Amino acid sequence: MARRLEEGGVRTRRAPKLPGRQDWSSWPHYDGAAKGFRGYWYPVTWSNHITGKPQPFTLGGDRITLIRDNGTAYALHNRCPHRGVPLSEGNQQFPGTVSCPYHGWTFDLTDGKLCAVITDGPDSPIRGKVGVATYAVAERLGMVWVYLPIADEQAPPIDEQLPEELVDNAFVLGGRIDPRSGNWRFACENGFDEGHAKYLHRTSLWRLFKPMPVWNTTRVVPGGRWIYRVQDEVHWEADFPGVGHWTGKRWWKMRPPRGTFNVGNTGTPKKIDPVIQAQRFPGFASLSMPGVLRIVYPKFIHYEFYVPVDENNHRYVGVMVNFLKGAETARFYAKYLGAIRWLFHGQFSGQDAWMVDITDAPPEKLYRPDVSLTSWRNLAESTTKRRLAELEGDPS
Ligand code: FES
Ligand SMILES: [Fe+2]
Repeated sequence: MARRLEEGGVRTRRAPKLPGRQDWSSWPHYDGAAKGFRGYWYPVTWSNHITGKPQPFTLGGDRITLIRDNGTAYALHNRCPHRGVPLSEGNQQFPGTVSCPYHGWTFDLTDGKLCAVITDGPDSPIRGKVGVATYAVAERLGMVWVYLPIADEQAPPIDEQLPEELVDNAFVLGGRIDPRSGNWRFACENGFDEGHAKYLHRTSLWRLFKPMPVWNTTRVVPGGRWIYRVQDEVHWEADFPGVGHWTGKRWWKMRPPRGTFNVGNTGTPKKIDPVIQAQRFPGFASLSMPGVLRIVYPKFIHYEFYVPVDENNHRYVGVMVNFLKGAETARFYAKYLGAIRWLFHGQFSGQDAWMVDITDAPPEKLYRPDVSLTSWRNLAESTTKRRLAELEGDPS
């Protein structure tokens, strides 16, 4: 180029470099997962909301209908192959089936096959020749979960995907399932985002009497299929050169704890629940595929499941779990319904919903605490690469 310029060539000018990352092409699978990662179980709704009346849901861009028959929940593609009417507008005319409201095409709930056509008589020749896709369904944590397949693979056992401590231990739970706007990845990134909680949530009622740190130094470490945020330093006040002093401390708030802590986010607890203690979590915030956040407090664990609906909407599933049994469970329910549901799963979490709705990235210029975001994207990318290779029979 230098020679060409010397020879009188035309000087070309490069477009000015924009700051930061212009796209997510370093994480191609993540970038392509606007409608969620397939090959996972997702919670869709509370179990007691699914009855014999079919209801519509969208999951990862797929339109499905859920219906309960004889105690078992079923999921079918929510489109009648005849003229495209949603089956969720229909109802049940025979046990073990659902009928489209338009012409009475009737589908078997177990395999989706067209098993009767009411308006074409008992010997309708199309019977058995067409059908709708069905989805694997499981019920855990009081919710109905649907497996979103990559191809037509068999669904793996849901217990392999649930947080390990929720498979065998007894617990009680309270939670909320809210439809929210914004892409599921913004919700997931917000959940594990290291930088925001201490600033955005400092005004939340949930934190009214507890101060939040100003800044931390944090590492992200892997552990099994999870990544953990581990706090190395917690700073409660700071002098910002040329700008001034800043702290989250207030006279009406509790005094900040001494030292660093990794259970709960406001200090070293005196007593930790034995089930939680036994897990030996290295950090209080952890994240796993396909967007499951776990925040460990001394006496309970809060989970968030970010369920993709479509590119612009997700379902927020917030669950508070307490490993209690017997009479103590009543205390938990009273506390959940009286406070946690409104303050934590309501107003506090509403601040997150606000940010998720208005986030607009990429482009983005990440900063030091965003190691939480890039670690999550790396986890999503490497896990997806491995799973796709396994599915194609390549064990590399
Ligand atoms: S559109 Fe469903 S039966 Fe005709
Ligand atoms: Fe938050």
